Amino acid sequence: MEINEEYVMKSKKITWIGIGLFTVLMYLMGVFSGVVDAAKELWKFHQDFPHASISILLDINQNEEKVPAYELPPVLRSVAGKPMTSAEQWQNNQQDLLAQFAKHIYGQTPSKQLLVTSRVIESSKQAFNDKALRQQVTLTFQGQSNSLEHKITMLIYRPNNISGPVPAFLGLNFRGNHTITSDPAVLLTQNWVKKDVEHGVLSNQATDANRGQRVRRYPIEMIIDRGYAFVTAYYGDFYPDHINGQPNSIHSLFSDDISKDATNDVNIAKWGAIGAWSWGMSRMLDYLELDESIDASRVVTIGHSRLGKASLWSAAQDQRFAAAISNNSGSVGAALSRRQFGETVKIITTMFPHWFTPEFKNYAEQEDKLPIDQHQLIALLAPRPVYVASGSKDHWADPRGEFLAASAAAPVYQLFGMDTDKLSTMPDVGEAITGPISYHLRDGKHDMLTFDWNHYLNFADCHLVEKSVCQ
Ligand code: GCU
Repeated sequence: MEINEEYVMKSKKITWIGIGLFTVLMYLMGVFSGVVDAAKELWKFHQDFPHASISILLDINQNEEKVPAYELPPVLRSVAGKPMTSAEQWQNNQQDLLAQFAKHIYGQTPSKQLLVTSRVIESSKQAFNDKALRQQVTLTFQGQSNSLEHKITMLIYRPNNISGPVPAFLGLNFRGNHTITSDPAVLLTQNWVKKDVEHGVLSNQATDANRGQRVRRYPIEMIIDRGYAFVTAYYGDFYPDHINGQPNSIHSLFSDDISKDATNDVNIAKWGAIGAWSWGMSRMLDYLELDESIDASRVVTIGHSRLGKASLWSAAQDQRFAAAISNNSGSVGAALSRRQFGETVKIITTMFPHWFTPEFKNYAEQEDKLPIDQHQLIALLAPRPVYVASGSKDHWADPRGEFLAASAAAPVYQLFGMDTDKLSTMPDVGEAITGPISYHLRDGKHDMLTFDWNHYLNFADCHLVEKSVCQ
């Protein structure tokens, strides 16, 4: 009996020691894998941004309580400092306000026209099981003062079952046209692409390896079924997205605009890459104006993240776009810079100096000195409908800052007699606000998913097709 008790005590002790050791081991492994993950992230950061110091990541604010007190530039005050009380006064101020965004943030888009030749290089009505016409069209731009040429490739899907001109979504893509669909007929870009070893892209040359990699962001069949065309091009065709991308970008055809940026010792044009992508979207619209099967007066710009920034800037400058969608566009897209939440002016201009005019970095940690903020960019869309969408866990892009900017643009829409009352409170996760300024907060991370597209299609149905379906 005694022996047994001693034996039981001993084995209990051994069990507890075992559990203790196991727990410590698990804890150490957890810490170790956490450390490994963090080290991997830092290594990736260093690879992607060799020109940026890792220290900028140290003081990122993701705490609402640490948002500084700020005052937005009044949306109804003109650039000349006068109050605006009518739609007409607002419209008279529009060019001055655009010039402010050009001067301080995105750079001046050149007005010089280039010679353009378009060529349909591939066409088939058999896309998506015969539902859609697929066309691949090259646009070749020629400089006027230099002999350079620059080529981009558009990919167009258009529903077969509608005879008249259809409305369209127009947006650039991140990884190449071949990544937004698994359609094997889509051509690979010949231009620089980002290495992506995880998805089989081992060099800066596009390959078949990552075909369809981004289908989740582009439910093209659903878009076609709802009666819209979808028009896209690879953003790197216009401007390869890296700090030395400028010489191979469309900027090279505007050689008079190039100046030297002393800090990074690379040539940066006075307009940045976001300007180039936005300009590119307008050139794609020029082509659609010649295509009778698409209604160029009902084209909505759409873009995710950095391309959401381009979507807003493009539609703000080009009144021909009927509406704009900004999906998780964040810092210097829809989010207010003055909140300094998530990605700040300092971070974005350190990591991506080539996106902006060189002057913009002077506002790092001095956001309150900016004479403008992003609510005024959204307001520049008025009275055209605009959609701002956030992801609830996309803290880097500051979902609340995106909502507050959308809401602060509302007084301008009211000048046009539009009802924006719903924008007084930020919706809950999974909820949407419909109206001339629409907004939703999708549950989840930085992405563009079918949930988002369902809302965008309803928005387009309401504003571009049939008012009676508006909710
Ligand atoms: C980075 C960048 C953002 C940008 C995003 C994207 O996170 O900091 O400003 O929006 O990339 O384009 O996915």
